[in-house]
Amino acid sequence: MKSIVVFHVICSLLIESNAFTPSHHLSHQKFIHNTSTKICAAPVEALSDIVIPNVFNFGGHSISEEDLAKEDPRVWVPQTDCLSFRPLCLCTSQGYYVNLLKFKGGGVLGRHRHSSPVHAFTLKGGWGYVEHEWHADQGTYVFEPPGETHTLIVDEDCEEMITLFHVTGSLLYVDEKTDEVIGFDDVFSKLEKAKKWYKECGLGEDYVQQFVR
Ligand SMILES: [Fe+2]
Repeated sequence: MKSIVVFHVICSLLIESNAFTPSHHLSHQKFIHNTSTKICAAPVEALSDIVIPNVFNFGGHSISEEDLAKEDPRVWVPQTDCLSFRPLCLCTSQGYYVNLLKFKGGGVLGRHRHSSPVHAFTLKGGWGYVEHEWHADQGTYVFEPPGETHTLIVDEDCEEMITLFHVTGSLLYVDEKTDEVIGFDDVFSKLEKAKKWYKECGLGEDYVQQFVR
């Protein structure tokens, strides 16, 4: 809960200070882009994304081995072989969720379109989108506007990536070539996935209810 509050405070401060750097002003080299098949990241009416590196430069926060050992690995809900998520707030009353997304090693989250805004705060490792040139390293804040459509990619040499995502509305999985909708995620599908996993792993289906608002 504390981390969510801190995240929201950071977002508010940044919005008020107008201290954003449009992503097209940043250049990164980690991803190779196929320029022969230009992929559209958003409708022309959509706002530009925001990428701010090094948001947390607090002087090296670290977790003790003792605290690390206390974490129950079952809180992480498996989503694919390399991807899992940890729900922090599943807000069914307002249609958004806040979760930690974790990739073990490199991986991809298929191309998807957001109906509503997304805030992302990179806590560990790095990631990016095939459709964008920027790379979100540890400490990077990213705002994704409604309409944004992208394919999340984590570098193969990244041992572990953890990012806090605040996702409002629907995340529509689309066909890579046609952009036809082929699936979706929202706070309710995330809730169902968490319930299913917590039941399977022995924490109990109701374990997730502490995160629902
Ligand atoms: Fe996304």
